Amino acid sequence: MSAPVTGCRLAELTDLTPLSATTTCPDPAGAYARLRETWGQVAPIELVPGVPAWLVIGYREIRAVVRDELRFSRNSGLWSPLRDGRVGPDSGLLPIMAPRENAYFSDGAKHRRLRAPLYDGLAGLSEQRTARLIRATCDRLIDRLPVEGPIDLVASYAAQVPMLTVAGLFGIAPDLGERLQACVIALFGSGDDAQALFGEMQTILTGIISAHRAAPAADLTTAFLDHPNHHNDAEVLASMLLTLGAGWETTQVWIAQTLRIMLTDSRFDAQVRGGHLGIDDALDHVLWTDPPMANQPTRWATSDTVLASQHIARGDALILGLAAANTDPWAGAQDRIDTGNRAHLAFGIGLHACPAQRVSRLIARTAVETVLHRLPDARLAVPAAEVPLHPSPWTRGPAHLPVTATRTRS
Ligand code: HEM
Repeated sequence: MSAPVTGCRLAELTDLTPLSATTTCPDPAGAYARLRETWGQVAPIELVPGVPAWLVIGYREIRAVVRDELRFSRNSGLWSPLRDGRVGPDSGLLPIMAPRENAYFSDGAKHRRLRAPLYDGLAGLSEQRTARLIRATCDRLIDRLPVEGPIDLVASYAAQVPMLTVAGLFGIAPDLGERLQACVIALFGSGDDAQALFGEMQTILTGIISAHRAAPAADLTTAFLDHPNHHNDAEVLASMLLTLGAGWETTQVWIAQTLRIMLTDSRFDAQVRGGHLGIDDALDHVLWTDPPMANQPTRWATSDTVLASQHIARGDALILGLAAANTDPWAGAQDRIDTGNRAHLAFGIGLHACPAQRVSRLIARTAVETVLHRLPDARLAVPAAEVPLHPSPWTRGPAHLPVTATRTRS
């Protein structure tokens, strides 16, 4: 079937589907299919009222976008709504879309220079030491759960594990890791205190950098400081902020979605507990059906261009519909448990693909295993249909997972 041709420009379109409708509805695959039917592989959507963007929902089209940084840049300074004031300084879109001096918002040689320390630092982590740190963090969080009454496995566990472990990889003590966690939650909440808390995060990390300059350690902070591609401490700080920010929500949603499926789908749960579905395969199933970054921001068009019959104007934003691409009929829709297949787009693809795939898998696997081991009789405390979804337009996952469970010793 050939894609419908609209020939419309983004600025001319009204009554668009809000992006969050794809992450907060019960049937995201159906929502993406309807967009595909109406618009083809590149659909106009609304990020927030009055701010439209393109959602790239075709597997082939996403590949084309990420491989062509001359046409589709990471430079958010190009973004028309930011330039003409439709996105103001208080916009909740800014924490995730405002330009920053780091690898994520760079193209070309600058991106390659700033990405290398992230990649090399993460690749150089000792698997054994990292596994020990993650296990200790998970156990500490389980030990702190109330012995009686319902537990929210998102707030008390899934949301805590990634930040505390990634902070630990930087050699940041648990109490400061918890403070960073509070700052990041407030930052993404875009509340009045967001600026002050961002300042506090920078102060904490600057202190960690100074301490590591004085006493180097076998951790990510020292790896970042020693990397020849970082030209000064400001770049090290930017890389630390990027790593902590990029790893937090994605990994928490991955853990929470996997636990949600186990708690709500008895067949899936039995297969995991009975050893017929390994934890890694269960995690991959989630990356196919409910990838944490359902809609990945952002590329900006550097010139007027055409993509899948849509007229993209210079300065338009393009969001990568990673969840949609996983169910793209062109790529062969996946509606079964497909063990061993990691060709999903959950970690992105191309030049900016996630550099933390190994470590985030270790975190997610350990977090899920620890729940199986330490909370063996965990049961949902509410009907499955009442598990609320996070209201984010980017990630799709449970906002809360209330369970009852007996805690066992580690
Ligand atoms: C410890 C956890 C993690 C860390 C430290 C981390 C770090 C990063 C960083 C630094 C980038 C930017 C790379 C660049 O621009 O060159 C990135 C990109 C990305 N990460 Fe991760 N990440 C983590 C976990 C995850 C997880 C669990 C997922 C989803 C399964 C994920 C999905 C992505 C995606 C989709 C991109 C962007 C791809 C693109 O825009 O082309 N990440 N990550």
